[in-house]
Amino acid sequence: MNEQFPFKRLNGIPASQDDVRRRREHVKKIVIAHPDYSNLLSEIEDIHFYSRGSVKPDSLFLSGVAGVGKSTLLEEYTSRFPRQIVNNNTVIPVLYSTVPVGATPKSVASKLLYSLGDPAYEKGTEISQTSRLMNFIKKCKVELIIIDEFQHLLDRDTQHVLNKASEWVKSFCDEAGVPIILCGFPESKKIFKFNSQLDRRFLMKLTMEGFHYYTREEQIEFRTFLKSIDERLPFVDRSSLASKQLADKLYYATNGLPSHLNKILYEATGLAAKSGNDSIDENHLYDAFNKLEVSTRPFVSNPFTIKDFNIVGAFEEELKNNEATKKII
Ligand SMILES: Nc1ncnc2c1ncn2[C@@H]1O[C@H](COP(=O)(O)OP(=O)(O)O)[C@@H](O)[C@H]1O
Ligand SMILES: [Mg+2]
Repeated sequence: MNEQFPFKRLNGIPASQDDVRRRREHVKKIVIAHPDYSNLLSEIEDIHFYSRGSVKPDSLFLSGVAGVGKSTLLEEYTSRFPRQIVNNNTVIPVLYSTVPVGATPKSVASKLLYSLGDPAYEKGTEISQTSRLMNFIKKCKVELIIIDEFQHLLDRDTQHVLNKASEWVKSFCDEAGVPIILCGFPESKKIFKFNSQLDRRFLMKLTMEGFHYYTREEQIEFRTFLKSIDERLPFVDRSSLASKQLADKLYYATNGLPSHLNKILYEATGLAAKSGNDSIDENHLYDAFNKLEVSTRPFVSNPFTIKDFNIVGAFEEELKNNEATKKII
């Protein structure tokens, strides 16, 4: 048993509370470099690498719905470039920061200053904070800035807010002189329609999507993802997640979103370990699914333990129920 895989065979004996906790935490941390993930990672590497010494660095807008794995990807990239103290100066090659809920340009500047270690991060006007920010970016030798949860800068959707936010982002990009990755929900793209000068600075717009499951290739891709996860689950035996039957059910249950898949497996891991199992079975998945409620899918049914599950039929049934309620409303 190696350091990375310290999970013992349970042989029917329930895992201790501490062991259950460790196994569940392990599930939370599983990250698989699936094709979309690797492609986006290499786009970021390119932007970072080719901007060094460039007069006008390229910037990138990355969008995607909640739970596709945007932050996971950006945090992983950031962690590759740890902060270092060189000659009493903190060097931060990649600065990652998130936009707080209901943010204004001033609170974004504050948050960035905080991430850069400015003890007076809240002090000053928007203008003085922004100019301090530029000094810190130089002092800390920042090469790439990642601003996640960008949609919060546009939480209050008025003409004035969009105007102010887009002007601030535009001049921030110009003054920072390093590439910037803005990441947010697809709706935050509206800022570019609103300000064509900003749009020109973010010509590269990429989207991260959940898994699809229509074509044979897409099914193989999702099943490959499941297989990689299965191999990393904190059990000595494998759980056959990538079998055709379970893959169909897991796709239907999650709609191909990594976050939902992770939640189900997290719960199922706890249930399996508590009952002393050495892999996850469909009964655990059934119970795990019942513990969770996806408010965007009021008519989703529990696919686990169903014999001869038909994914097409299940999606059609859900759609039919959705349509029926629309008519009533
Ligand atoms: N590449 C991946 N491999 C496995 N699980 C992932 C991956 N990306 C995301 N997840 C799961 O989905 C969850 C949500 O991801 P997150 O990065 O927070 O999504 P987003 O920022 O797009 O809302 C993560 O906590 C993780 O459990
Ligand atoms: Mg996120």
